[in-house]
Amino acid sequence: MYNAPRGTQDILPEEQAYWRYIEEKAAYICQLYGYERIENPMFEDTRLFTRGVGEGTDIVEKEMYTFDDRGSNSITLKPEGTASVCRAYLEHGFQNLPQPVKLYYFSPHFRYERPQAGRFREFHQFGCEAIGEADAFLDAEVIDMSWQFLKSLGLQNTLLFINSIGCPECRPKYLEVLRGYFTNHIGELCPDCRTRLDRNVLRLLDCKQSGCQQIVDQAPKSIDYLCLPCADHFQQLKNYLGILEIPFEVNQRLVRGLDYYSRTVFEIQPEEEKSQSTILGGGRYDGLIEMLGGKPTPAIGFAAGMERMVMNLKRQNIPVPPVPAPQIFIACLGEAARNEAMKLTAVWRRQGTGVISATSAKSLKAQMRQANNLKIARAVI
Ligand code: HAM
Repeated sequence: MYNAPRGTQDILPEEQAYWRYIEEKAAYICQLYGYERIENPMFEDTRLFTRGVGEGTDIVEKEMYTFDDRGSNSITLKPEGTASVCRAYLEHGFQNLPQPVKLYYFSPHFRYERPQAGRFREFHQFGCEAIGEADAFLDAEVIDMSWQFLKSLGLQNTLLFINSIGCPECRPKYLEVLRGYFTNHIGELCPDCRTRLDRNVLRLLDCKQSGCQQIVDQAPKSIDYLCLPCADHFQQLKNYLGILEIPFEVNQRLVRGLDYYSRTVFEIQPEEEKSQSTILGGGRYDGLIEMLGGKPTPAIGFAAGMERMVMNLKRQNIPVPPVPAPQIFIACLGEAARNEAMKLTAVWRRQGTGVISATSAKSLKAQMRQANNLKIARAVI
């Protein structure tokens, strides 16, 4: 007997109604906001992620599925979607199209994490990327889109958190202050935080260990160290969200787990917060395209976890429409009737009506039982 590998799951027929529901709502919202679908390969050159996502991140340090293929090229199963979309943007000359270029995707992603409720090693995302525009107007539009999307699913009691983590101009100063602050408290930090202090001090703000909470709560805030353009940008974003009537909370501890972010970061979480509960996360990544070899090109996007959306739909008992199934069952007795049944089945299917035909020479009673078990309301005998 074999089992699905740890941290993966089969998405069985009975789950498909949820997935289909989410995909249809997502595709609809993308159409409303002018996004076009893109599909990228499931694996990429490893360097795309080490450079793009960042060497100091958990993803690159310990979570990637990386291997050499038979041609000795280092390949990595996609741990996230943004770097691939940016690679495709550059590879296909999308910088020559009217900007911003707006793209969306559904894709499996792979991270070697410790599996638990809502956290898998293979998981799926619906993601959106808007590339080529720096204005806070776009930040507001992207956040509005993600908010309206979750609302359209019927999810209740979600909270939107936003923050600004500044840009390469103002962030170094903030990081220095932050490092100084945590160094003064080093004895009180958990072992993970102590090792992160040198490599990725921003991540300390994200620590979930109870012993670190008080120190983290009192840490210096990035928004107090923004340069003027970043502060203006953040203020504009808040104004626009006000105009759009989207409720939000500025959360100084929101930093996100990938290195490419600059300025705006945001997450949507269910109210009853649990550590693995973020449904959707995103932010601006103005430096990523340049880091991948393109011209400086601002961009922003988000991704929502499919499994986490399904989990929340179930938790909130939100009904989803069933996947359409055949509505007619054809029962028959005897060889001559079976030939007719076959003809009729073919005619109806070719006209677009779903039909299930009894397959073997069972008694009429057994055939009707089969129709019943398949939950088909109408039988033709
Ligand atoms: P992320 O925060 O790493 O961001 O992932 C986005 C969402 O994917 C999370 O909020 C969560 O719902 C889901 N997710 C992440 N890891 C797992 C996991 N191990 N198991 C189940 N679900 C998971 C990104 O990936 C960025 N690329 C988002 C983005 C797009 N930023 C800008 N554009």
